[in-house]
Amino acid sequence: MSICAACGEGLDIGATICRFCAEPTTIPDDDTRIEIDVRLLDRLGDWSQIKHEIVERYAAAYTTIVSRQSVIKRMLYVDAFAGAGIAEDRETGELLRGSAIRLLEVEPRFQELHFVEQNENKAAVLEQLTSFDRRVQVHRGDANEVLTRDILPKCRWEDYHRALCLLDPYGLAVDWKVVHTIGQMGSVEIFYNFMVMDANRNILWRNPEKLPQERLRKMDFVWGDRTWTDQLYEQTEDLFGPRAEKLPNAAVAEAFRTRLQKVAGFQYVPAPIPMKNTRGATVYYLLFASPNKTGAAIVEDIFNKYRQ
Ligand SMILES: C[S@@+](CC[C@H](N)C(=O)[O-])C[C@H]1O[C@@H](n2cnc3c(N)ncnc32)[C@H](O)[C@@H]1O
Repeated sequence: MSICAACGEGLDIGATICRFCAEPTTIPDDDTRIEIDVRLLDRLGDWSQIKHEIVERYAAAYTTIVSRQSVIKRMLYVDAFAGAGIAEDRETGELLRGSAIRLLEVEPRFQELHFVEQNENKAAVLEQLTSFDRRVQVHRGDANEVLTRDILPKCRWEDYHRALCLLDPYGLAVDWKVVHTIGQMGSVEIFYNFMVMDANRNILWRNPEKLPQERLRKMDFVWGDRTWTDQLYEQTEDLFGPRAEKLPNAAVAEAFRTRLQKVAGFQYVPAPIPMKNTRGATVYYLLFASPNKTGAAIVEDIFNKYRQ
């Protein structure tokens, strides 16, 4: 399948202009067509599109507010688990813009956009799709390492830089140390996708002491320490004796929200929004954490509009 290098939409077979953005699809000596292997694209459910809308709406409010502060020198957007920039609708097979491509169009504009992607094929597609935009840098590698080494040093409060960062992994993959560092910086706001379905399936079983070591360590990595075995369980007793029962999903998300505030040091963390699949099961909670009261109030308002 060919897609338009200017807007990321699918091209009609044989078309010489894109019917979505009207850009020419072939220019002499500079072919704008990009061949994409659709098998490597993520397949997004409704909840992903809601997430995109939420992040995009807040990003526009964010750049509007921050750009009015003359002291601020740079606004950055960071998509730490960026994907290929386009994805496929799980239901219809239609091509959709991913979070990275959607954020390119936010006005007022971010001055820098940093996209991190570990999968080489996806990173290559993303690089091609964004090659027309000089504000973009595609980083290959593990988001936790790239953020710490290459991106967060560009977002320092004392340099008058401010950033909005999307942490949107497939599963439990964000290192708490990175979240804690961001919380302490005071210059970066995050949307964080907390994968409660992954946690329930693979880690938050009854009686966590029976879990294999590597699963315990995975949750420690995301939570920052082993306190989750106390905070996410309650002790109950039945005919078979005492046992540790996992708290309901909403209480798990609330415990993580509290941790973002009390341990990582984000001043404002509105109640998260559950993202559900078509069967009504919560796949993940979208959290927002910020040093900024106004930002948190705006996100709270946006979350409330989508909560139903
Ligand atoms: C949920 S998808 C991202 C979707 C994208 N944010 C969107 O909404 O369009 C997660 C992406 O993270 C990538 N990924 C997984 N582990 C990673 C890691 N440790 N560092 C960077 N990228 C990673 C995957 O290859 C995948 O493309």
